[in-house]
Amino acid sequence: MRIIRTIDELRDASRSAASIGLVPTMGALHEGHLSLVRAARAENELVVVSVFVNPTQFNDPADLAAYPRTEARDADLAASAGADLVFAPNAAEMYPEGHATSVHVTGPITEVLEGASRPGHFDGVATVVAKLLIAAQATRAYFGQKDAQQLLVVQRLVRDLRLPTEIVPCPTSRETDGLARSSRNERLSAPDRAVALAIPRALAAAAVVLAAGETRASALVSTVTGVLAEAGLEPEYVAIVDPETLVRRVTVEAPVLCAIATRVGDVRLIDNEILVPAGG
Ligand code: PAJ
Repeated sequence: MRIIRTIDELRDASRSAASIGLVPTMGALHEGHLSLVRAARAENELVVVSVFVNPTQFNDPADLAAYPRTEARDADLAASAGADLVFAPNAAEMYPEGHATSVHVTGPITEVLEGASRPGHFDGVATVVAKLLIAAQATRAYFGQKDAQQLLVVQRLVRDLRLPTEIVPCPTSRETDGLARSSRNERLSAPDRAVALAIPRALAAAAVVLAAGETRASALVSTVTGVLAEAGLEPEYVAIVDPETLVRRVTVEAPVLCAIATRVGDVRLIDNEILVPAGG
């Protein structure tokens, strides 16, 4: 697997390809990331996986320092899923000396949920994603529904900056027991891993209640918090929101995004599902 370190080399490599599929990641690749790589492989001549632990999207320096870095393994996994290149720049390549430009997406999609919990996080994400899409000259870029809010932020910035990249949403990849795949799952103790299953259980319970005809968002939130509480979890947020605008819904007459963030032990996990009302 070829590992490229500079934007100039990446531009050279992508110049001759008819189509370029980019999968932006922070490494520590798992099956969830690889599902994106496979989707990219199916649709593009050249498939690039970027591996960059982006310092500007971390609020907590300790979290940044603790982020797993497993580059050699990532390169092997990316190759096994069909990638042609890994782009693994250092921080100075992405943020040159004296850098002073950032991309800021305004409004509810960056201010609520993860935006409220992690100030500045989406500025870091929007900035690095814009840089990566431009550097790779990506025809298509692949993002997981697992990070639904991030996907909306990226779709917004691509529309607003008129970038010539198609953003391709990919479904959340789950373990067989339902837990959404995440590099953070590795940090769960065995008992906490079992407790974390309350998250997909809570999302499933909300889907059942909605399908049975409930239309009050507050009742869905109670269902979710109830299932989490049975497992001893006190969520940071449980939100029933419009899937496009992330504005809170009071009644549910069309599909909604149900989003959860909670700590399990000292590991912060997020998950979400689009819930469809009865007859909706
Ligand atoms: P990272 O957390 O490494 O995730 C990279 C991509 O993989 C994101 O699009 C994310 O939504 C997707 N992904 C992670 N787990 C998934 C799962 N279980 N199912 C489907 N897709 C999954 O998200 C980031 O990195 C960064 O913010 C980044 C976009 C790279 C910018 O730095």
